[in-house]
Amino acid sequence: MAVKFYCPENQVPLEMHKVRVIQKLTLLPIEERLRKLQEAGNNTFLLQNKDIFMDMLTDSGVNAMSDKQTAAMHIADDAYAGSESFNRLKKAIKEVFGIENVLPVHQGRAAENILAERFVKPGSVALMNFHFTTTKAHVTRVGGEVIELVDKKGLIPVSDDPFKGDFDLAQLEKTIKDYGADKIAYVRVEAGTNLIGGQPVSLENMCAVADICHKYGVTSILDASLLQDNIYFMKTREAQCKYMQPKEIYHLLADKMDIIYFSARKLGFARGGAIISHNADLIKSMMEFIPLYEGFLTYGGIDVRSIESMAEGLYESLDMEYLAHGPEFIAYLIKELDDYGVPVIKPAGGLGAHLNCSAFVPNMPHSQYPAGVVAAALYLIGGIRPMERGTLSEQREPDGTERYAELELVRLAVPRRVFTLSQIKYVADRVKWLWDNRQLLGGLEWVEEPAVLRFFFGRLKEIGHWQEDLVEKFRADFGDSL
Ligand SMILES: Cc1ncc(COP(=O)(O)O)c(C=O)c1O
Repeated sequence: MAVKFYCPENQVPLEMHKVRVIQKLTLLPIEERLRKLQEAGNNTFLLQNKDIFMDMLTDSGVNAMSDKQTAAMHIADDAYAGSESFNRLKKAIKEVFGIENVLPVHQGRAAENILAERFVKPGSVALMNFHFTTTKAHVTRVGGEVIELVDKKGLIPVSDDPFKGDFDLAQLEKTIKDYGADKIAYVRVEAGTNLIGGQPVSLENMCAVADICHKYGVTSILDASLLQDNIYFMKTREAQCKYMQPKEIYHLLADKMDIIYFSARKLGFARGGAIISHNADLIKSMMEFIPLYEGFLTYGGIDVRSIESMAEGLYESLDMEYLAHGPEFIAYLIKELDDYGVPVIKPAGGLGAHLNCSAFVPNMPHSQYPAGVVAAALYLIGGIRPMERGTLSEQREPDGTERYAELELVRLAVPRRVFTLSQIKYVADRVKWLWDNRQLLGGLEWVEEPAVLRFFFGRLKEIGHWQEDLVEKFRADFGDSL
């Protein structure tokens, strides 16, 4: 909290930027929202943005750009090869991470594809604190297996542990020994662990993971997509980081890890991504994949204007006032909900506020997708688009059985520098209403279930008529309000 208010009861997170370009929003009447939801197969990915009031699906590629970023886009140097825009990106990466060797990729999962192709073989295992959907899909596609080694504390929905994304270090060492280092494709540390509530990893834990990897000769990889939020938490929750500049932390991690990759749709408020390393040979060993899958080495499938905005955005990712915005808004939303009794993941993490749907609808079985139900219901009753992060987002086992998620979460993402505090308050209000009316909620069942990444384009329908019941109750409570 950089700015202290005179009256403690007025204390709120304060935006350290102002809005100079706006986008009109629409809030459809609930009856229309019901129609739109059912047309979208109860899948919030299939809703149209024009029908949404609060788009809280993700923080990916929807963060607000700064005046400097949009200005930089005007000087983009369009060239298939040798673009000056790429040289400016390299300069920014050198400044932020201290690293010279850069492979540009069009987004985070493109980096994951290349890393899987380079390191994962049939029968090998990729160790990580927790999987991310696209990471796991790439590892399994080439015949590898993902093993998650997050410390048990990470799966406890409510606690006061500041770093729930930490690796279980003893398990990490044991797993490397059990499989043998040659079977380990790599160890991947995911900063700001997405699927368990944007929970951070401590600097101490990240360094210890890297040390274990070096001891056994295993490649260490940092997924830095959510590192901005993670650095905010390191600085505010970890004693050794309090007086470190963000840049010192980025540099230290770059020195420790063999490879870093990131989605610039998150890190850097932009689009694109990159794989970077101090080790030129490692980068060389992946170089051929860039023209094969992405584009030439100096654009990597990214539009040059986006390369410029990424470069500028990376400099902004050193600024604590920008880094603080997301986590402070999320903490505010979590406190509002928690004080009301709504089950949320605590402590507040980065990326978004997470509702614990196993507690929101405790009697609903995993097989009826409780998190999918709450996500669909929030669009219906508030025009709010969240993302399901529970069983729906899992892949079925090879034998076709469901893999039930450890945590049934709904994520209300807070894209950086986008929403005002009154909009966040509106979201809190509608979630509280849904919580008070949770007895009306029923399950979902598949109409169309794709075999891969089903949560993106699968379609479901309500079991029974709980959605119509919610509309009726909404009208009874809110009259003709939108
Ligand atoms: C931690 C993490 N890694 C990787 C990715 C993939 O990045 P992208 O969406 O740019 O492909 C994401 C996206 O949400 C993420 O959260």
